Amino acid sequence: MVENHLPNHSQSFWRETSTIPKYPSLDTSIQTEVGIVGGGITGITTAYLLSKKNIKVTLIDANPILKGTTGHTTAKITAQHGLIYDELIQHFGIEQAILYYKAMDEARQLIENNINNLQIDCDFCHEDAFLYTNLDSWQRDLEKEKDAYDHIGIESEITKDTPLKIPMKLALQMKNQALFHPLKYLSSLLEESIRNGLTVYENTVAVDIESDRSNPSIITKDGHRIKCDYIIAASHFPFYDRDSFYFTRMYAERAYVLAMQSKEKYPGGMYINAESPTRSVRTTTWKGRDLWLISGENHKTGQGKPMHEHFKALQSFTNENFAVASYDFRWSAQDLTTLDKVPYIGCMKKSTPNILVATGYRKWGMTNGTAAANMLTNIIVNKASEYTKLFDPAGFKADPTIKKFVKTNTDTAKHMVKGKLDNTNNHLDINQLQADQATVTRINGNRAGVYKDKKNQIYIVDTTCTHLKCEVEWNSGERSWDCPCHGSRFSYTGEVLNGPANKPLKHIDPNKLK
Ligand code: FES
Repeated sequence: MVENHLPNHSQSFWRETSTIPKYPSLDTSIQTEVGIVGGGITGITTAYLLSKKNIKVTLIDANPILKGTTGHTTAKITAQHGLIYDELIQHFGIEQAILYYKAMDEARQLIENNINNLQIDCDFCHEDAFLYTNLDSWQRDLEKEKDAYDHIGIESEITKDTPLKIPMKLALQMKNQALFHPLKYLSSLLEESIRNGLTVYENTVAVDIESDRSNPSIITKDGHRIKCDYIIAASHFPFYDRDSFYFTRMYAERAYVLAMQSKEKYPGGMYINAESPTRSVRTTTWKGRDLWLISGENHKTGQGKPMHEHFKALQSFTNENFAVASYDFRWSAQDLTTLDKVPYIGCMKKSTPNILVATGYRKWGMTNGTAAANMLTNIIVNKASEYTKLFDPAGFKADPTIKKFVKTNTDTAKHMVKGKLDNTNNHLDINQLQADQATVTRINGNRAGVYKDKKNQIYIVDTTCTHLKCEVEWNSGERSWDCPCHGSRFSYTGEVLNGPANKPLKHIDPNKLK
């Protein structure tokens, strides 16, 4: 039997199959009504909704537009967010659980309306969502989730027979959800917003907010300022914290996606299991054929196995269950989860009602990001949203938070201590370093990360994370230095890829190795 190999390079199918125009960087100070930081689904959808109301919006992104988590999603448009509704009823009460579902269902409907109104060709289709388990011990959880669905009024069924034939004991089906190509959708929304007056700047890094009560300003890395009536931080991890301590209230996870063509036709539906390790399956269309997306293997950023092992595990699952013809793409993504699983959307602080934030989507960014856009638009235009209390960024809401809060911060402390004590003995000797390999060593007594690129050029960084001084670890799959404490990631040259850090790793002169 011929083994199908994984692609050599990490490459998001969505980015490979869409054309995103380039935008300039901001090179002067400007004034706008709403300044949005972050060019993903939240930022672009909010810009679209506001621009339709003739509000002057400026959107900036630290990187090229749509290159972050939105460009690497699995793009399920569903209110089925794993096991969540029974927990919401237990911890928040039935009214808030109903509101959560309503927000997500409205988001699904809003995406569909936008597609119809703008006639966007983005491979949109309706599919049922299935949450399944193959373990006896999880069946009771699925049954409780079904009770929660019934209580809330969600159209659903519990079944042992799903269109996709994978090992499963039980599945909970949520009817009439949807799939699409997120970047085809969002690039059309962006074009339309620009026609409505939106201004876009990419490769423009926001580093701070200067808070004047009526007109706060976004300050960029190059020292330019965007004076605004409202600021929206939609930058995945909020670029601005000001005593909100988001890094203690959210944790970052990485997940992996394989895209493959099968010898068989995709039978319909989108799937995710309840237990770990996560296995998720959906399809899209590529060159007129089904492209199956298999994803999962979530782990805390900087704390997992080497990345290729996660891809191998997904590959084994895929080979065991489906008739693989070829593997065509593979990529990974980073997501943030709040301690009570409900995103933070709304005013960052009561004292600064015109600084808004949206973050912590727990991998359900298509509906959560669109719900956030809806909500933030209502806060700005109508000065109110029915969802304010549920998604309040300032609140801890559920009891189990306390336990997980402690666990998350214990992990963090452990990595801080481990990093400082690490004697680097486990790492490759610097003299054995091959092209495209990295190691950690000591230079003048300090821990240093050394990467040799494919042309044998050496890059050295101080491995002390610029956020709160944990020690970063090498991620060989993405060629990045990842922080196990709060999920910051840095390129091999030390530039920030993901916050909360907003300063690059310190460079060390390669001559110091000699
Ligand atoms: Fe917080 Fe690195 S991300 S210490």
